Amino acid sequence: EIWNASGKYRVVSSKPMPGTRWIRLLTDQDCRVEICTAEKTILSVDDILGLIGNKCDGFIGQLTEDWGEVLFSALRKAGGTAFSNMAVGYNNVDVDAATKCGISVGNTPGVLTETTAELAASLSVSAARRIVEADEFMRAGHYKGWLPNLFVGNLLKGQTVGVIGAGRIGSAYARMMIEGFKMNLIYYDLYQSTRLEKFVTAYGEFLKTNGEQPVTWKRATSMEEVLREADVISLHPVLDKTTYHLINKQSLATMKKEAVLVNASRGPVIDEAALVEHLKANPMFRVGLDVFEDEPFMKPGLADLKNAVVVPHIASASKWTREGMATLAALNVLGRIKKFPIWSDSNR
Ligand code: DGY
Repeated sequence: EIWNASGKYRVVSSKPMPGTRWIRLLTDQDCRVEICTAEKTILSVDDILGLIGNKCDGFIGQLTEDWGEVLFSALRKAGGTAFSNMAVGYNNVDVDAATKCGISVGNTPGVLTETTAELAASLSVSAARRIVEADEFMRAGHYKGWLPNLFVGNLLKGQTVGVIGAGRIGSAYARMMIEGFKMNLIYYDLYQSTRLEKFVTAYGEFLKTNGEQPVTWKRATSMEEVLREADVISLHPVLDKTTYHLINKQSLATMKKEAVLVNASRGPVIDEAALVEHLKANPMFRVGLDVFEDEPFMKPGLADLKNAVVVPHIASASKWTREGMATLAALNVLGRIKKFPIWSDSNR
């Protein structure tokens, strides 16, 4: 699909993105926009080389693509200076290779914070209260009337929510769980989240003045402390060498037998094969997963487990957010081509 065919700068998007605001932003600034509408979901390096072609000033790519030296040097050769990932996470991008090739890299932080946190909160509740299992039961016609033991799950109020990685999304998630369900907080992060701590303290005071049990918070000195103490644990680290298989056989064994584990960050943060074994051995342990180690696949056995809620990497999938991500991605590319400021983690 081509917009503004006579535009001076050629900008390619490897996928159609929601809304038209991002297209207008580019076409209004003399860009010719080419959108790949191929049916194939995951494009290979060769597919992308074909899209870059001989002239490409900027490229908007997706987290399913592997952006390394081959692609960045091809983009540079085609006259390009800018690449934007339409995602906040950029573990699929070799930033050093891009820098070496003279390509600026952008991502799309901020606009997906609350949306992603909402999905992590939804997975927490769905897993704790067995909502998907109960939905399947109902649709299958198994419901014969109310029973005291039917789909008994965990109450969140008064339990402890554990957050691993208290950045933008982890903090937003924590606030939702604390304010929405009056959970106590334990978190682990390399940096101290003073804003989160101030929020919990103020909210605790508010509850106290209303005659309610105040919530508490604790900054853990190790991840293991969170795993040991929390009832619901949500993972929000970036994926890099240090967080690959952060949750493995050993760390799973540290968690409470009835804990809920949620992952809306990146799949490889969990050793998924070890998780499947743990779920099989501990039917009261539950997970809510938005991401998988080897997307789009799930490790064998996961799909059969009743104690797992699984959704296809949709944490940022609200209309407002996805349009915002597309707009930021377009601005990143335009910014470099036209020398406007660029949005990225490094300059926020
Ligand atoms: C991201 O932005 O990194 C998410 O995984 C997709 O929204």
